[in-house]
Amino acid sequence: MITFEGAAKIYPDGTVAVAHLDLTVESGRTTVFVGPSGSGKTTSLRMINRMVEPTHGTIRVDGVDIRDQDPALLRRSIGYVIQQAGLFPHRTILDNIATVPMLLGWRRGKARARAAELMELVGLEPAQAKRYPHQLSGGQQQRVGVARALAADPPILLMDEPFSAVDPVVRTSLQDELLRLQQELHKTIVFVTHDIDEAVRLGDRIAVYRPGGELAQYDTPERLLAEPVDEFVESFVGYDRGVRRLSFFPASELSLRQDVVFDAEDRVERARDAVVSDGEPWALVVDERRAPLGWVGARQLTEAPAGVTLGSLELAPFGHVFHVANDSLRAALDAAVLSPAGRAVGVDTDGSVLGVVSQADLGTAIWSVSE
Ligand SMILES: Nc1ncnc2c1ncn2[C@@H]1O[C@H](COP(=O)(O)OP(=O)(O)OP(=O)(O)O)[C@@H](O)[C@H]1O
Ligand SMILES: [Mg+2]
Repeated sequence: MITFEGAAKIYPDGTVAVAHLDLTVESGRTTVFVGPSGSGKTTSLRMINRMVEPTHGTIRVDGVDIRDQDPALLRRSIGYVIQQAGLFPHRTILDNIATVPMLLGWRRGKARARAAELMELVGLEPAQAKRYPHQLSGGQQQRVGVARALAADPPILLMDEPFSAVDPVVRTSLQDELLRLQQELHKTIVFVTHDIDEAVRLGDRIAVYRPGGELAQYDTPERLLAEPVDEFVESFVGYDRGVRRLSFFPASELSLRQDVVFDAEDRVERARDAVVSDGEPWALVVDERRAPLGWVGARQLTEAPAGVTLGSLELAPFGHVFHVANDSLRAALDAAVLSPAGRAVGVDTDGSVLGVVSQADLGTAIWSVSE
């Protein structure tokens, strides 16, 4: 647990980097500091490992005032990852990762074995061990940065915009890796970002800073999106927060319709009787493994000659599906909005159709969780 008790940093020139911070970072969780540029995020982070000394207040790690700890020892017990990874250019990847264990006095062989283990953990190829940082992509360098920070197995990991210099696709995969690692390692992670989506994705708790080095709100992502405390936080989390909040509700609770799903081998009459007479505008056609093929409209069903199979009609694309077991209401809504039928197709882990849900039914489900 890391506690800030009235912590502040005011520079001699009068700049208030952090005005007054009372905050508890829970152990084994990911806490994200988010806020506009210059709002004191990096300063707060660097006060934890004494790279910046607070001018006021106290910071404790597991109850111990960090002023009572040797800064060099404290820093070695806290992993630190920065943007652009900050690797040593003239050391190999393996030796970059082995840096802290070596500083801690490990034998070279043991430190390198540990480094090799960590390369695997963060998803780097063994062949990259002997390369130098400039021979890796930006995303790979960030992985090395994470591996290096984890090398001595510190309980705390400080990460300052570690993924902001890579493209959005690599960034998402680095976020996925971090989520996976954290499920395994349960570190106390403090993560700084500008990006509210990244914060919501990674954080168990989010601290939103406002200009002037003040904490505007400290909450779970869900509460932050549901109840921003003021206009500043509301504009910072974005006006589409309502839709983003849907990512906290599982799609598995939606009731899916199966009566509008038909086999490609079925004849039009069958769908016509069940769908058109029921006032349903669309039927979904699936193959023999129940994988979706596409939509057929009521008008097509009415006009098609008797006896033809549904699979022989021209089908409208089913768009993208949502995974009933793992996806959220947000994914289901997205699938419905993008579907030409205005209906989302829910599938099982093997891709077989479990049923469909209309925008109207989604609206009802969303309304009930928003209460
Ligand atoms: N050594 C210094 N002397 C004076 N002012 C400083 C010093 N270091 C930082 N500051 C100021 O403190 C404020 C907070 O800086 P900090 O780096 O913590 O912001 P940040 O939230 O991390 O911003 P960014 O998102 O741009 O990284 C800024 O106004 C900055 O200019
Ligand atoms: Mg910063």
